Amino acid sequence: MKSAMGFILFAAVIVVFLLVFSGRKYPPIPDDPWHAAITSEKACMACHGPGRQYPLKAAHPPKFSCFKCHKFPKR
Ligand code: HEC
Ligand code: HEC
Repeated sequence: MKSAMGFILFAAVIVVFLLVFSGRKYPPIPDDPWHAAITSEKACMACHGPGRQYPLKAAHPPKFSCFKCHKFPKR
């Protein structure tokens, strides 16, 4: 019985580990008409700046060099 408990604990640790790290993946740039026309990072803040249609969350990491973290999906 002891080893079963140990296994369950081990599995739980792995699940939590995966959840935490998968949540930190950078969301890709959506493959939709909003983004299809964009080639320059400078254009991003027109919609993702404060008060715009889809502002970055306050907790968003550094607000520059978007393409370092956000990649366009392969088209
Ligand atoms: C014309 C307005 C517009 C521009 C310009 C724009 N976006 Fe967006 N973006 C949106 C909207 C609206 C959404 C949310 C709806 C959607 O999924 O398309 C969004 C969603 C996103 C998401 C997904 C967020 C999530 O919750 O998964 C990322 C990443 C993103 N944009 C990055 C960028 C980057 C990087 C640029 C510059 C290259 C950019 N956007 C330029 C309007 C824009
Ligand atoms: C250091 C890496 C990094 C850079 C640089 C970066 N992002 Fe993000 N971005 C992330 C991560 C990680 C998330 C997911 C945050 C979350 O889920 O809480 C995210 C989320 C987003 C979202 C979804 C809404 C939000 O605020 O969570 C949008 C839109 C977005 N980023 C756009 C941009 C734009 C536009 C730029 C350039 C001005 C940019 N990002 C630069 C890592 C980055």
